[in-house]
Amino acid sequence: MPAQGYVAAIADWRRDPQAFWMEAARGIDWIRPPERAFDPALGVYGQWFPDGRLNTCFNALDRHVAAGRGAQDALIWDSPMAGTIKRFSYAALRDRTARVAGALAGLGVRRGDRVVIYMPMVPEAAIAMLACARLGAIHSVVFGGFAAAELAKRIEDAAPRVMVSASCGLEPGRAVAYKPLLDAAIAMSAHKPQACLILQRPQVAASMVAGRDHDFAAAEAAAAPHDPVAVAATDPLYILYTSGTTGRPKGVVRDTGGHAVALHNSMRMIYGMRPGEVFWAASDVGWVVGHSYIVYAPLLAGCTSVMYEGKPVGTPDAGAFWRVCAEHGVRALFTAPTALRAIRQQDPEARLLGDHDLSGLETLFLAGERCDPPTAIWAADKLRIPVVDHWWQTETGWAITAGFKGLGLFPPKPGTGGRPSPGYDVQVLDDDGRVLPRGATGNLCVRLPLPPGCAPTLWQNEAGYRTAYLADFPGWYRTGDAGSIDADGDVSVMGRTDDIINVAGHRLSTGAMEEVLAAHPDVAECAVVGVKDALKGQVPLGLVVLKAGAQRIAREVAEELVALVRDRIGPVAAFREARVVARLPKTRSGKILRASIRRIADGEPAAAPATIDDPAILEEIGAALGGRSSVRES
Ligand code: COA
Ligand code: AMP
Repeated sequence: MPAQGYVAAIADWRRDPQAFWMEAARGIDWIRPPERAFDPALGVYGQWFPDGRLNTCFNALDRHVAAGRGAQDALIWDSPMAGTIKRFSYAALRDRTARVAGALAGLGVRRGDRVVIYMPMVPEAAIAMLACARLGAIHSVVFGGFAAAELAKRIEDAAPRVMVSASCGLEPGRAVAYKPLLDAAIAMSAHKPQACLILQRPQVAASMVAGRDHDFAAAEAAAAPHDPVAVAATDPLYILYTSGTTGRPKGVVRDTGGHAVALHNSMRMIYGMRPGEVFWAASDVGWVVGHSYIVYAPLLAGCTSVMYEGKPVGTPDAGAFWRVCAEHGVRALFTAPTALRAIRQQDPEARLLGDHDLSGLETLFLAGERCDPPTAIWAADKLRIPVVDHWWQTETGWAITAGFKGLGLFPPKPGTGGRPSPGYDVQVLDDDGRVLPRGATGNLCVRLPLPPGCAPTLWQNEAGYRTAYLADFPGWYRTGDAGSIDADGDVSVMGRTDDIINVAGHRLSTGAMEEVLAAHPDVAECAVVGVKDALKGQVPLGLVVLKAGAQRIAREVAEELVALVRDRIGPVAAFREARVVARLPKTRSGKILRASIRRIADGEPAAAPATIDDPAILEEIGAALGGRSSVRES
């Protein structure tokens, strides 16, 4: 029976979850092995491996060198943007990381201090993350496509002692100077870091602030290597800010021990990877996929990880992914469906595949957004390998549901996100918290406790964690996704139940965009919704009502609003369209009917809800949105 391994693993876990995870913990080298798997009395819902001590960087690098993998590639940096490919053996990556840890320590970074990393996709980003882990310092990586104001929010919340950044990122056709954004963010933030470590890239030279800024290469060269520092398994390894429903991002905390155990285990159980094999997550270190599957998991498992600075198309063409897979012998590729849609749009017959030998590529894993079936079918047909959609989120850090290559449940049922990973008891609840029968759609929830690797709390905001995830359904973690579980136990994820949208696999808050629009002097009220887009899955659309007496041309205001969102949130928001309307549809109690707006924008039937104040507004909105150019059916 092909799923035997999975069935047995689930049975083992259900019978004795603590024994299951203690067994998985044997894959990690502990400084003090945990005697207990879980303490339900600690933290918000309990904590994993409460008495264990370890160092994640040691587990990711040093132990592999000691075990004879020193000469094996740990990281391959492939940058069509810079026209460079660089390989780092485990020994070389360990040595560079140890020196950068020494440089950070020289700037005063100690265990428990925060370090904000605002970097493009360069190896030094991974090195800086691992160097923090080596010191027991807590890194917080901020995606490069965010604007200064978003970076400032994260600096203020994390209060870093040091920041690590680069002179520029490379986007097609332009270099994005990071340093002015960094300087602006520090100026905006009430918290000021003591020092900045700046990587000078050849494409743009950053001007340095005397006394505060230090050259990355010089500091690394001058530093003595630093040894790994023992930390508690429950110590935070990193904070990763993600979009919530308001403009205030949530600081998702990852602990050290549970994370190492869960990620190491996932490489075998889900991805079927063995030490020495090449894994490529085509994501960015600024997102959770980049944290988990560019940096930590492949290295914890002794694999070779590919880090790619480029796009799926245009760098130079839609064959870029196939070139990277062939050139580096990638065995498993992990990307977002939007990247495949981009490739398919430009090369529908996948002719560029013919230029490359992909015989080594065994599996394609997809996540980050719902995968539309035509894209999954296209990929499976052209690549002739199993395509695995798997569902997870920043908070969980690894897959909630998946196909399990290492457990024989593979590939998962097409059109679903697969079955729950051992460790997750996933159920569908109605709005009153009752478990719904198989087939019914409702709130996808996970019974507490969450497994190792999932966020134990939000950074200095335990109350916020309870409110956001635990309050609605006591005893459960609310994922914020809607979906169903079929008779076989396969899970389908439909979309968010809140105001979070998914743009090109990037998680964004419409609430944050509304805050920006509402700050425009001529805007009386506004609504931002995510509407369908053939390439990015969803894109934001803003509707605004102008203040009475605002004598402005609608087109001008709309252009200002687009510029404002780009300036305050960043280009990654892809906010390209705002429409001025006379009024917004609301309930009688004054709540804006965003779901109705979205359905109208998507061209779906939008029957007036019973609570609507004035049904005629829906027709007005329909007329105002008629002929929108950016709405394309997927
Ligand atoms: N630094 C600075 N700017 C950045 C950036 C970064 N790290 N990343 C993106 N941007 C900018 C882009 O240059 C673009 O700017 P523009 O508006 O001036 O063109 C904007 O942010 C939007 O970027 P992006 O989302 O990459 O859209 P795109 O139109 O350039 O490319 C895709 C479309 C589909 C090719 C691209 O979105 C993609 O590769 N998506 C995959 C996403 C992914 O891997 N997600 C991780 C989840 S697993
Ligand atoms: P992020 O925290 O950025 O990883 O985004 C998490 C959100 O992306 C989830 O809550 C889902 O809404 C969506 N998502 C991620 N993976 C999938 C998937 N495989 N299918 C459907 N939605 C997904």
